[in-house]
Amino acid sequence: MIRNRTAATLTVAALLAAAAIATGCTPSASPAPALAVAAADVQGAPVIPLPAVVQPAEGRFVVDATTAVRAPGDAAGRVATRFTELLARTTPLRLADGQGQGPGIEFRIVPAAAGTSPEAYTLHIGDEGISVQAGDEHGLFNGAMTLWQLLAGPQSSAVALPAMRIEDTPRFAWRGLMLDSARHFWSVEQIKAVLDAMATHKLNTFHWHLTDDQGWRIEIKRYPRLTEVGGCRVPPGEAGRRADGSPNRYCGHYTQAQIRDVVAYAAARHITIVPEIDVPGHAQAAVAAYPEHGVVDGPTEPSHNWGVNPYLFNPREETLQFLEGILAEVIELFPGPYVHIGGDEAVKYQWQASPAVQAHMRRLGLKDEEALQSHMLKRLEAFLEARDRKLIGWDEIIEGGLPPQATVMSWRGIEGGIEAATHGHDVVMSPGNTLYLDFLQTNLPDEPPGRPKFTSMQKIYAFDPVPAQLPAAQRRHVIGVQANMWTEHTRTWERLQHNLFPRMAALAEIAWTPLERKDYDGFLARLPVQLHRYRALGIAYGQTALSVAMQRQDDRAGNRVRVELSNPLGYGDIRYTTDGSVPTSRSPAYTAPLVVPVPTELQAAAFFDGKPLADRASQWTLDAAALLTRTDKTLAQCPQGGRLLLRLEDDTPAEGPRASFDVTIFNPCWLWEDAQLQDVASIQVRAGRIPYNFGLLREEEAKRGFRKAVAAHGEFEVRDGCEGPVLASQPLPQATDADGFITLEAPLRVPASGRADLCMTFSGDTRPQMWVLQQATLRTRD
Ligand code: ACM
Repeated sequence: MIRNRTAATLTVAALLAAAAIATGCTPSASPAPALAVAAADVQGAPVIPLPAVVQPAEGRFVVDATTAVRAPGDAAGRVATRFTELLARTTPLRLADGQGQGPGIEFRIVPAAAGTSPEAYTLHIGDEGISVQAGDEHGLFNGAMTLWQLLAGPQSSAVALPAMRIEDTPRFAWRGLMLDSARHFWSVEQIKAVLDAMATHKLNTFHWHLTDDQGWRIEIKRYPRLTEVGGCRVPPGEAGRRADGSPNRYCGHYTQAQIRDVVAYAAARHITIVPEIDVPGHAQAAVAAYPEHGVVDGPTEPSHNWGVNPYLFNPREETLQFLEGILAEVIELFPGPYVHIGGDEAVKYQWQASPAVQAHMRRLGLKDEEALQSHMLKRLEAFLEARDRKLIGWDEIIEGGLPPQATVMSWRGIEGGIEAATHGHDVVMSPGNTLYLDFLQTNLPDEPPGRPKFTSMQKIYAFDPVPAQLPAAQRRHVIGVQANMWTEHTRTWERLQHNLFPRMAALAEIAWTPLERKDYDGFLARLPVQLHRYRALGIAYGQTALSVAMQRQDDRAGNRVRVELSNPLGYGDIRYTTDGSVPTSRSPAYTAPLVVPVPTELQAAAFFDGKPLADRASQWTLDAAALLTRTDKTLAQCPQGGRLLLRLEDDTPAEGPRASFDVTIFNPCWLWEDAQLQDVASIQVRAGRIPYNFGLLREEEAKRGFRKAVAAHGEFEVRDGCEGPVLASQPLPQATDADGFITLEAPLRVPASGRADLCMTFSGDTRPQMWVLQQATLRTRD
């Protein structure tokens, strides 16, 4: 929990109060209003990531339209141009050109001290002006981004900056973000917007996931079918068919010209792009285009199934040459040192079943399929090394023997990273349970589709990429940290922004800031200013984590509810109303659980420094109907089988908003624990139907289950507990209504106890479509 006015809070408040000077264009040299808070209170700049050293000083400097920007030399000139352009695009500040005399902003390259990172910089703000210095253009650019942050929060045409000296250098050299363009395609403009945002967070590595089972997204001139065939898939279910019955393909790829443009755009922001060509698995789109480089006979299509699909590249010589042909074009396009070669989730069923592959393996004297995968990757590593490039791959590349120079990206936890570092390999930490941004950021019902294991801001912030158990001598092999944005369930740009922001801020801080400077409360105190900057950049950041979560306990008599409120990030100042008005900073403060009568219209918002954090207040209607209703997002799941819970969306309509459903795909069921059933006569259910489109490992597939259908199209069933007696059963129709839903009502047999754990299921195979519950309402006798 963060209190509302810590010293850190004052810091931010002071800067903002000091910053927004009346728009009368106060000249830098003339007297300006006194600072609201003495400089001594400025203990740290409200910058994210927090700089290594911030020393407050006496005085201040006002930046306005008269402030000259000077930058001797080409490199400093480029940085200054990027800085003033960004400032002009995102703030009212239009700075004077560099020739003017008098106090101003100077960007200067100075010889670096030996051993200094090329990304290090110093930033000095004093009465006499602002000076940014670095030994290298990249460091100078980082300093410019810090100065931009200080100026972009306030949104004023004259900004007073308190005097300070910042000495800054990154903790890690690899500060990465991965974006999956294969599952859903992102336009060049959207990629550039992500790169812009990365630069302002001092993230320097963009890992571009360009190939997968569901799409091949990079033009390869030698092999045009990769994008012609591999660039399109037919989505499952209704979204995959046009009105006339023809396939409604989902397509997209980047031409080589577009890739060159993106690479140059990234380079201008000191971001290196690491392209990923996934080998030998996640290859279905490529195999669809060139079946001769797959393993099984016969054609296939780019997959519309998420998960683990079985298609592998063939390990034979001709296919290795094909892959080298692809890599030859990839390294022409991407000048960075690393090429990501995938290596993840390559289930070996096809290789095991193929006599030709087995014979090839024996000829090579290899003991198993892991060794065969390693053999392929070592060959590709040699190809890259000969061209002065380095191979990086997911941690499965350890199995069967690591290519000698390989760097490992640890995603199945941190263990792979520890093992690789122990053997002297460089490592990027990217554990799925902490740094995957397709996991929802809160447990709120309005979180968009994704994986409802939570990757909260706190979880990201708490992660230390250097494991304590790694021997000191090997720690230097942890070269960085990366968050991964997989996009199976992220279909729109709006949702992509929601998933990336504000969590990118926590990623930036664990990647850049010295470990001993990490401080979650201080981070929360700096975050509201970061939200100003997001707005300035035109970023539609996620609101859920900034809103208020409500936990409710219903009174047995049904005339009162006990309500607990919290902010998912831990901001402590929550204000609420019960009179239908929007909460303000003067509304009652939430300090302990509330007991409110039914009905009550409750609204709440989290505040920081007197201002609401989210764009809108959270709102709940606590009336008799609400107490008798649960949704898929507020029900629990039954424990049987493998419980892979997902938040999935309807497949119709093809465009525009769609309903989403929380469903455990192995054994779909919804559990209303301890339902109070006195006077209840029936249960009404609203349900939709969505495609089942998942590739599963064989051992996982064995856990998939459903109740056997009795009626022609199965039935909706309610039991008392997951394996208990049937309390209600109602036949299902063949199909949904035109709106994609059905509503049915089933009489409910109430146990003598007057209560039950209502376990709700739909019988019948979940393939190719499954019924999914959206809402259940208990109906009383009258
Ligand atoms: C991965 O998540 N398959 C790297």
